[in-house]
Amino acid sequence: MQGLCQKIPRRTYTCVMSSDSALCILGIESSCDETGVALVDARGQGVPHLLAHALHSQIDMHQAYGGVVPELASRDHIRRVVPLARQVMAEAGRRLADVDVVAYTRGPGLAGALLVGAGVACSLAAALGKPTLGVHHLEGHLLSPFLSADPPTFPFVALLVSGGHTQLMRVDGVGRYTLLGETVDDAAGEAFDKSAKLMGLPYPGGPHLARLAEGGDALAFELPRPMLHSGNLDFSFAGLKTAVRTQLQKLDLLDNREGLARALADAAQGKPLADLAAATQAAIVEVLVKKSLAALKATGFKRLVVAGGVEANQLLREQLDRAGARRGIRVHYPELHLCTDNGAMIALAAGMRLQSGLATLSHEPVFDVQPRWDLVAA
Ligand code: KG4
Ligand code: ZN
Repeated sequence: MQGLCQKIPRRTYTCVMSSDSALCILGIESSCDETGVALVDARGQGVPHLLAHALHSQIDMHQAYGGVVPELASRDHIRRVVPLARQVMAEAGRRLADVDVVAYTRGPGLAGALLVGAGVACSLAAALGKPTLGVHHLEGHLLSPFLSADPPTFPFVALLVSGGHTQLMRVDGVGRYTLLGETVDDAAGEAFDKSAKLMGLPYPGGPHLARLAEGGDALAFELPRPMLHSGNLDFSFAGLKTAVRTQLQKLDLLDNREGLARALADAAQGKPLADLAAATQAAIVEVLVKKSLAALKATGFKRLVVAGGVEANQLLREQLDRAGARRGIRVHYPELHLCTDNGAMIALAAGMRLQSGLATLSHEPVFDVQPRWDLVAA
């Protein structure tokens, strides 16, 4: 490892990848409500290979509060990260001394939660005498399909759809990202989660709303498709939540806990709620699909990468696959178990940055996090 790095001032190192010997990268993700740790081998110029990964989701813990409680999230990351790292090392059959670089999510995310991952990564690296690398969370999502059985090739359009972001990116290579459009208010995941909460569904609402929608008729309600014809590639989802509110009011289900509980418990009685869930999902998905197609048309690219938690949505996958097939467009997704936050995507992004000569490794015993961080500027 040392032989691969050129020293630059202040004990930071740019890495020049030339050797084909193993380059073990430990990745730590702790930006929100999932603690993820993974080990990849990023030797040479091939796509980094996942050796092992482990994940702990805090969903059960936050469910009682209807959303993520930042302080509880940080405390739980502290409890989980070291045991998960031990598990990953054991599953990969490696020792800590084999780790060449410790990567961590530097941002964006919850400040306290990020500090836990950064603190552990920097302490571990200092103890091992190895460098650290701070990674952009969205770059992890964006590159995560490279770990799938059907990896994309550059260039492509990326649709990033998570709980906090909805963005369309032109991706010409690692670190070569151009923002084409983004949400002006709520993210797609937020639209799912807020609508689901209004319907009395548990946090995080997206998968619950999708399940409820299975028994519903999306045409039973006419919901808006905000900014569908805006002429640009931006999104807006806040109005959809307001429309869902209005429909619930008409059904006498707004803030009606007993009514919602009855509707959710009885499929026959709950049909209008299932219809509303289906209509909400259809509205979000239609906007995401049409804007993605518009971005592909604008760039002339024939490949679309979809990443972030909302990408687990089956209707979104089906509609993108169908629309793509009609237009000769390949659609790439991460493996389903790597759709939500995880350490594998952080270790992968670190590896691909190193291979591209873009990463700046640090041996400094200091760390910083960036709770708000623009990927295009990363
Ligand atoms: O990327 P992610 O795990 O975390 C963030 O970085 O935000 O995304 C979480 C989001 C949540 O809003 C969740 O409701 C949504 O992804 N989500 C889904 C589905 N699975 C997760 N939304 C719709 N349908 C799903 N099946
Ligand atoms: Zn995420």
